[in-house]
Amino acid sequence: SLYTGNGTFGKKITYRESLNSTQEIAHALARDGAVEGSIVLADEQTGGRGRLGRAWQSPRGTGVWMSLILKPNIPLQKAPQLTLLIAVAVSKAIEKVSGIEAAIKWPNDILISGKKAAGILTELQAEADSIHSVIVGIGINVNQERNHFSDEIREIATSLAIEGGQTYKRAEVVGVLLQEIETLYNQYLENGFGVIKLLWESRAFSLGKRITARSITGAITGYAKGITEEGVLLLEDDHGVVHSIYSADIEFPST
Ligand code: BTN
Repeated sequence: SLYTGNGTFGKKITYRESLNSTQEIAHALARDGAVEGSIVLADEQTGGRGRLGRAWQSPRGTGVWMSLILKPNIPLQKAPQLTLLIAVAVSKAIEKVSGIEAAIKWPNDILISGKKAAGILTELQAEADSIHSVIVGIGINVNQERNHFSDEIREIATSLAIEGGQTYKRAEVVGVLLQEIETLYNQYLENGFGVIKLLWESRAFSLGKRITARSITGAITGYAKGITEEGVLLLEDDHGVVHSIYSADIEFPST
């Protein structure tokens, strides 16, 4: 396999050389009662999924394509906190393995030098308002060269190898990442979101900046003020009205 773990997270590994999406397999495993911390890893995804129905380019042998099953005993409306927790863990893991600074763009893009190096897709299995499983999909661009990226994303995507000028061991990235997630997750379950929120804010790329939040309902431009306890983004428009943004794409207006 790509990785042999030793923590609680990643003890149960499902590995495939190639599959459609690790999310798909993880969903099936979770429905069949997989234990918390089970992971699905692939060398290649032929139908990798991104947020908002987008595709996630997952060429063979280049990145970490992983889904992790969590079973937190928290109310449904707190689930977005987990995405922020994972974003902190991914950014920390990248820094530990490569020494490269990785910032977080709300809610869950991981940027190096302003370009996207990793993404997180959080999906839920829930009944009524209780969470059965959280399927956290994590994609990290590790060893891609520029020509691995399609024309549409070549200028906005990057990898650890492009930024660091060397290749990295994907197994090491997975190991460090799972350790970071496990530590933060246990801290979160014990003490709540407070510490995670501080860590997130200290790594946030968009806070204090002028941004445009674009969603299917329209676009709002203003200053990113912070996040709430629930992980909602607060955006102050030019009339001083503060908007709560639950889901959107963040752009940085050039004027
Ligand atoms: C995004 O930024 O849009 C989220 C990207 C998430 C990609 C990962 S790769 C592993 C897992 N399986 C998928 O199909 N998607 C996630």
